[in-house]
Amino acid sequence: MINLILFGPPGSGKGTQAAKLVEKYDLLHISTGDLFRYEMGNDTELGKQAKEFIAKGELVPDSVTIGMLKNKVNANSDVAGYIFDGFPRTIPQAEALDVFLSEKNESVSALIALDVDDEEIVQRILNRGKTSGRPDDNDESIIRNRIEVYKSETSPVFDYYAQSNKSVKINGLGSIEDIFERLCDKIDQL
Ligand code: C5P
Ligand code: MG
Repeated sequence: MINLILFGPPGSGKGTQAAKLVEKYDLLHISTGDLFRYEMGNDTELGKQAKEFIAKGELVPDSVTIGMLKNKVNANSDVAGYIFDGFPRTIPQAEALDVFLSEKNESVSALIALDVDDEEIVQRILNRGKTSGRPDDNDESIIRNRIEVYKSETSPVFDYYAQSNKSVKINGLGSIEDIFERLCDKIDQL
């Protein structure tokens, strides 16, 4: 089973690349951001809990996010593997994922980080905001806060998996096809 963490700052292309990887490798794409947006769209209890954090570009509390992730995996166990997109976002989320997978005799196969600089990210997200309908994509100060949160809370997850030699970084600039090829090169080595 492949348990791939697709990593990188907001706007680095994780969702775009995950959609292509799913076709090639027959994996289930789990985007915690998409799951939150679905819950918010349906005005569920979970959506209400997440909304205030997402609006500010802050992280939803670990317990909420981890619970949601586990439910999604458990409801879709009959797959060749998973692409985790936007999760784990914190060290406690990474630790919880490791325990959760080990209970299934599974483990994280690799973490692949898409490397994109801050100014490119801001431009990409503002551009995406024109069509995404996401309030958190349409305000530059919120976008910059998301980048700061990524640096302080999320980027340590790269180092966490580097300890077991699972973290790799690829250049996230260039055409969608070029980046996809770089990703496939890494995945085919697993
Ligand atoms: O992954 P994505 O950028 O779509 O996530 C959108 C927002 O959802 C994040 O800015 C954050 O507020 C929230 N989120 C979170 N924890 C996660 C994933 C997303 O708090 N693991
Ligand atoms: Mg995304």
